Amino acid sequence: MRLDKYISNASDYSRSEVKKLVKQALVEVDGIVATNPGAIIAPSAKVYLNGDHVTMPGPRYFMLNKPAGVVSATKNSEHPTAIDLINTPRTELLQIAGRLDIDATGLLLITDDGQWNHSITSPRSDCRKTYQVTVAEPLNSHLVEKFLEGIWLEGEKRRCLPAVLEIEDDHHAQLTISEGKYHQVKRMFSAQGNLVTELHRIQIGNICLDPALAPGDYRALTPLEITLNGAGGKEQNA
Ligand code: URA
Repeated sequence: MRLDKYISNASDYSRSEVKKLVKQALVEVDGIVATNPGAIIAPSAKVYLNGDHVTMPGPRYFMLNKPAGVVSATKNSEHPTAIDLINTPRTELLQIAGRLDIDATGLLLITDDGQWNHSITSPRSDCRKTYQVTVAEPLNSHLVEKFLEGIWLEGEKRRCLPAVLEIEDDHHAQLTISEGKYHQVKRMFSAQGNLVTELHRIQIGNICLDPALAPGDYRALTPLEITLNGAGGKEQNA
C-alpha cells in the first residue's frame, strides 16, 4: 500500500495532510525518514508519525437498531443513512451486511470487514434472518405449510427456499427466511394476497438484536457475536 494511504487509513489525517507531514520529515518507515508519500510500503513496515507508531485499526463490527425513515445505504441525498448514525472514525470504510427497506426496522449489521460481510450476504451462505411481521389481512394457518413448501414470487424462476412462519395472532407472525431477495418478505406475503404493514428484523444467523438498543442506538458486536455471524447457513456448516 502507498505510505500516504496507509497513514490516512490508520488515522484521521487526509492524504494531502499526510503529504505535508512527510515534507516536514515527521514520518519514518523502518527507522528511515520518509521523503516520498507515494512510496509503496511492505505489509511488515513499521511506520512512525511524530514518534508514534501508526497501526491499522482492526476491523469493526456493529449492530444497529435501525429506525424507520433511515436508509440502509452509505450515502443518500434525501434521507439519513444507517452509517450517519454510527459515531466512529473512517465511516467511509463501513458497509452494511444485509439491507432493510426504509420503512423496516430492527437489526442491521455494519462492518468494514468485507469477507465477514460476504459470509452473511452471499447467496451461498443461506444465512437465516428472522422478522417480526405485521400484516393487514388476517393470517390463515394454511400459510405455514405454503411458506414451508416455498412461495413463488412474481418474476422469479424458482420458488423461495422453505421459510418458517410462526403465527402469533391474526395480524402478527414471526418469519425466518434464508435468502435475501429484493423486498422478499413483503413480496412473499403479497404473493399470498396480504400486505406487510410493519417489518422488524430481530435476528441474522445467530446474532440477535440486543433488546437494550432503542431505535437508532447501536453497539459494537462482542467477540462471540463476531464469530457467530451467519452461523447456521451452508457456508458455515460446510
Ligand atoms: N424483506 C423485505 O421485504 N424488506 C426488508 O427490508 C427485508 C426483507
